[in-house]
Amino acid sequence: METRLSVNINKFATLRNARGGNNPDLLKVAMDCELFGAQGITVHPRPDERHIRYSDVRELKPLVKTEFNIEGYPDKNLMDLVLEVKPDQLTLVPDPPDAITSNAGWDTIKHFDFLREIVSLAKQNGIRVSVFMEPNKARIFKAAELGADRIELYTEPYAANYSIDKAKAIMPFVQAAEWAAEAGLGLNAGHDLSLENLAFFASEIPNLLEVSIGHALVCDTLYFGLENTIQMYKRQLSAASMRN
Ligand code: PXP
Repeated sequence: METRLSVNINKFATLRNARGGNNPDLLKVAMDCELFGAQGITVHPRPDERHIRYSDVRELKPLVKTEFNIEGYPDKNLMDLVLEVKPDQLTLVPDPPDAITSNAGWDTIKHFDFLREIVSLAKQNGIRVSVFMEPNKARIFKAAELGADRIELYTEPYAANYSIDKAKAIMPFVQAAEWAAEAGLGLNAGHDLSLENLAFFASEIPNLLEVSIGHALVCDTLYFGLENTIQMYKRQLSAASMRN
């Protein structure tokens, strides 16, 4: 099974917002990502709309032909948007409004009641739900009790330790993948995945359904262009699927 690549287009919106105009055109970027091989488009609207705007999400919905994934903290504004737009997948992230980027997974035990309501609301509306998580056994099993379909493993610690000792860095994630499978949860992953560390991650985690990648992919685009970059990431995933 080959892991699907969902491109997080937040950073293209950051670039657009820097000048207040419409360059680069985010809708064209999203469609080109798909044309060049992306199997999903991810957006993470934040309350201050500093990159993706709520209006972008509404405009993207009819254009995205692959999988549309909205991620974010499920406050009332985000959930109103999600229920209006009905993406294919909602990824729940516990980031505070002022966070630069997501920096932790959910404590599904502590926030069980809150999350259960959100998950059930999304699922009543036909939206698949994924919960952003650290490799913690009790919390992963609790995510299954929430009724979530998948978890997304927060891979920042893997990426940070990859160059020091990749075998050690991957260990908790291999374990987490086993717990997720045991709990009946599908598996996504994301954060700081890159051309350097992606292939090893995907080859060590056989049941990885999807990765969502933004920052490194956008940086690579500066050197290689969007089409080459997307193809390079996809080649890493194909090579990994042949190894596992
Ligand atoms: N997954 C989640 C839940 C995120 O919040 C982010 C960052 O917006 C990503 C994946 C992508 O991380 P990166 O930009 O480091 O590839």
